[in-house]
Amino acid sequence: MSQPELFACVPDRVSVYEVSPRDGLQNESATVPLRGKLRLIDALVAAGLQRIEITSFVSPKWIPQLADADELAEALLCSPTHRPRPPGVRFSALCPNARGLERAKKAGLDEIAVFMSASETHNKKNINKSIEATIKAFEETIAPAREAGIRVRGYVSTVWGCPYEGDIDPARAIAIAKQLHEMGCYQISLGDTIGSGTPRQTRDIMVRALGELPLEAVAMHMHDTRGTALANIVVGLELGVRHFDASVGGMGGCPYAPGAAGNVATEDLVYMLHGMGVGTGLDLERLVEAAKAAESIVGRVLPGKVHQAGIRSLRA
Ligand code: HMG
Ligand code: MG
Repeated sequence: MSQPELFACVPDRVSVYEVSPRDGLQNESATVPLRGKLRLIDALVAAGLQRIEITSFVSPKWIPQLADADELAEALLCSPTHRPRPPGVRFSALCPNARGLERAKKAGLDEIAVFMSASETHNKKNINKSIEATIKAFEETIAPAREAGIRVRGYVSTVWGCPYEGDIDPARAIAIAKQLHEMGCYQISLGDTIGSGTPRQTRDIMVRALGELPLEAVAMHMHDTRGTALANIVVGLELGVRHFDASVGGMGGCPYAPGAAGNVATEDLVYMLHGMGVGTGLDLERLVEAAKAAESIVGRVLPGKVHQAGIRSLRA
């Protein structure tokens, strides 16, 4: 009996959107000094990452670890002492509102990311607004950003589950994603904020997402709290998804989502992808170096596996 071909729909190439300087460092108990952040971003660029979320233009009272967002962006984009941004690299930053957009414009960023949750309680705890009020506030952020020539990405958090409300209706989460896309976000990153997702659930969510949004507009942002991030990503790959968020060393977590641990580690994701014959344009050895640099910058052992175990055994 013939077997259905395994991984028949997996794309030949995918893009990795790196979030360690933002999602990673926002969740460290100690604030990393500016020079450490620049060292991390340099290591990411050296590994070939071209889409990097460098910081957040949020309230410094809410996320003190990223209070130096303006200085960081200035050092990266304006300072003649820092090495120039290589061609093709796009830096982005989280922006919750019009105030954040003004800061991003001043910094000269050409991309921002707006973010909200599929659950009312996490949305309120994270950005102090109802879902309805958040969408309203985004009218003052997304369209004006686009008019200023700034691309806008969107996040929907807690799609796989909320730390306060538990299960989330996937239809509701995907309706929010669709609304953000219609408002002008070029891509929507669907977040398993607390890393509770499992493959069958992922299939249900992603089939719905791909039924409502163009393939290129869909990204997955998987936290690995329970060790299921890569399994969920394989489900996305099999459905043809081509955009994945990741964080070197597996840093990350949302301070307003108790129990959330790190994102899928970039080096673990890329090890798996290259082993499956999926191109990323990234240099795995240099990603391992970036993960080790991240460990020395944050001063703790990071949970990513490949930077600890080494790359041995990977097919060329
Ligand atoms: P608020 O207190 O309701 O804001 O916070 P407000 O409008 O009432 O203003 C209060 C003060 O904040 C004012 O200053 C404003 O100027 C200031 P004051 O007059 O008191 O001196 N303010 C700002 N300052 C700097 N930049 C700004 C800004 N906006 C207002 N942009 C707010 C509302 C949204 C600002 C706040 O809740 C906030 O900053 N939240 C950010 C929380 C956050 O960053 N969470 C982590 C990221 S989300 C995540 O990790 C999930 C994700 O990774 C995907 C996933 O995993 O699922 C993306
Ligand atoms: Mg996250």
